[in-house]
Amino acid sequence: MKAQHFVVVLLLVSNITLFSVFLDVFVAAASADYTCFERDDLLPFDSKRLKEDLRENFLGQHIASNVIQRAVSSFMTDRNPNKPLVLSFHGTTGTGKNHAAKIIARNVYEKGENSKHVHLFISEHHFPHTEKLHFYSAQLKKQIHESVSRFPRSMFIFDEMDKMQPQLIDAIKPFLDYNACVDGVSFHKAIFLFLSNAGGNIITGVTLDFWRKGINRENIWMDSKELEIKITENIFNEKNSGFSYSSIIDEHLVDHYIPFLPLEMKHVRQCVLVEMAHMRITQNFDLADQVAKAMPYFPKEERVFAVKGCMSIRQKLSLYIN
Ligand SMILES: Nc1ncnc2c1ncn2[C@@H]1O[C@H](COP(=O)(O)OP(=O)(O)OP(=O)(O)O)[C@@H](O)[C@H]1O
Ligand SMILES: [Mg+2]
Repeated sequence: MKAQHFVVVLLLVSNITLFSVFLDVFVAAASADYTCFERDDLLPFDSKRLKEDLRENFLGQHIASNVIQRAVSSFMTDRNPNKPLVLSFHGTTGTGKNHAAKIIARNVYEKGENSKHVHLFISEHHFPHTEKLHFYSAQLKKQIHESVSRFPRSMFIFDEMDKMQPQLIDAIKPFLDYNACVDGVSFHKAIFLFLSNAGGNIITGVTLDFWRKGINRENIWMDSKELEIKITENIFNEKNSGFSYSSIIDEHLVDHYIPFLPLEMKHVRQCVLVEMAHMRITQNFDLADQVAKAMPYFPKEERVFAVKGCMSIRQKLSLYIN
């Protein structure tokens, strides 16, 4: 072989090698992109895992725990649900409404509440100006529609639902309905969670009644003293509540109105122990007692229920450990 031929062959071979390296890089990049697009953080649903999670991490809420477990499990395992899952959480502050929403989210998505499929709306934060209602309403509809058309198993959490303008609640109504299909998009696989303090006083009243009669709170159920009906009546009649003006209640679009009971000192004590674990402090039962006792309780004489539930336990605890 002449020297020129050898150089030509060498050039050809090196070009081919170079080309194949480029090709490899291109294919790798393309497949990575493809994987990103295809891969999603939806978990294979496991009702046992949800049950365990609720049992271990959701304190003092036997009704909410039971209803959430059954409602979410049957919805997630239904191949063809006829409407989206719509749950409404009710209770006084710090009883675990956001906490329960997070538990549901982490049992549905790998990234839990941080999944891009979980959309949180806080009334006074996201929709503060009444004069912008038309704009908010259009934006909200667009966001729900786009999210579900991209990913049917999307989750929407509406916090402070009682402070939400009725027009905004009405804007989401078409998405909650039976056979909900808007502009060719089906909403049957979506999950809507409404969180509010509305009905909290009714729930506290019933729980206190049981406590005063010496009946274990675990005997309270959705139908005890018509609790669920009373909650709906209460939120419906509550003046200035977004719920009261909206037809969402009338049209039975909410699957369950779930009561969150006021927490007692023993639950607060458990919350302190959980917080100690989060803060990587050695568990100290005496300190947990001390912190729990230092929280405010009501009614004044009996001191049965924690005014703030398990809210701001960490802050209280940090005062003691410093
Ligand atoms: N039932 C519970 N079980 C375990 N932890 C709880 C429970 N309730 C509250 N907590 C703890 O207290 C914190 C505050 O509770 P959360 O934010 O869920 O209250 P909330 O019911 O949403 O109150 P608010 O009505 O004020 O919004 C939670 O992050 C969690 O750590
Ligand atoms: Mg909350």
